[in-house]
Amino acid sequence: MARIKAAFIQTRPVFGETGKNVEDALKRIDALDADVAVLPELFSTGYQFRSKKEAAALAEDARMGYVSDRLAEIAADRKMHIAAGMAERVGRKVYNSSILVGPRGFIAVYRKAHLFWDEKKIFDKGDTPFEVHDAGGARVGMMICFDWLFPEAARTLALKGADIILHPSNLVLPHCPQAMITRCLENRVFAVTANRVGTEERIQGRRLRFIGQSQIIAPDGRILCRAGSVRAEAKAVEIDVSEARKKKITPLNDIFRDRRRDMYEL
Ligand code: ACM
Repeated sequence: MARIKAAFIQTRPVFGETGKNVEDALKRIDALDADVAVLPELFSTGYQFRSKKEAAALAEDARMGYVSDRLAEIAADRKMHIAAGMAERVGRKVYNSSILVGPRGFIAVYRKAHLFWDEKKIFDKGDTPFEVHDAGGARVGMMICFDWLFPEAARTLALKGADIILHPSNLVLPHCPQAMITRCLENRVFAVTANRVGTEERIQGRRLRFIGQSQIIAPDGRILCRAGSVRAEAKAVEIDVSEARKKKITPLNDIFRDRRRDMYEL
């Protein structure tokens, strides 16, 4: 079974400077030795939009825009897979999305299901299912930032066969890094959370400080690596994907087969 190198790239985007943010991310990817890498939520634009109009102006097509093209180019060059958060425009709709690209180009887009706070004023609610895709020996699924607080998101990906959850984020609350340990334990999957650092205060009095602490967690809850809260940094670790295919935790317990769906309210 595949051993692959998984990585997060923790960045410090400058709001509205898409070209700079993307080229900076590409340099960091190029310096990495990784098979699968994750960039933060909205890594190309920054986070705190003042209006839906402003977000629409910076958003792009997920398949054929500049962000997607540049990431696909480096993914082909480096024979790797990349998940990255971006603002996506579809007609009059704007989504907080994550794309997955691989050596053969665009693979998938996931649109954030659970919008956080003011995102509800900016973005349309995601309408793509939680899906699993092949990524060079691993099965991967995407969720975005605040989706962590809804265990159904990670559970759905795990039940659909994900080995690794790719989790672009812009975390501002302190709980997610620890909570993702539980998401991994309860589903026996790996998770790569890529967060950003820095602050934004584009709306007066609404200063956001992004907490960094990007991390890679193993199916048994081990923190394989975790970044600090201040610096842009990237880290890759080798993982054994087969660990995520073992859902037995004792000879008599299988975390999926033991579910008591007859006792859960939906
Ligand atoms: C978040 O979902 N960006 C907190």
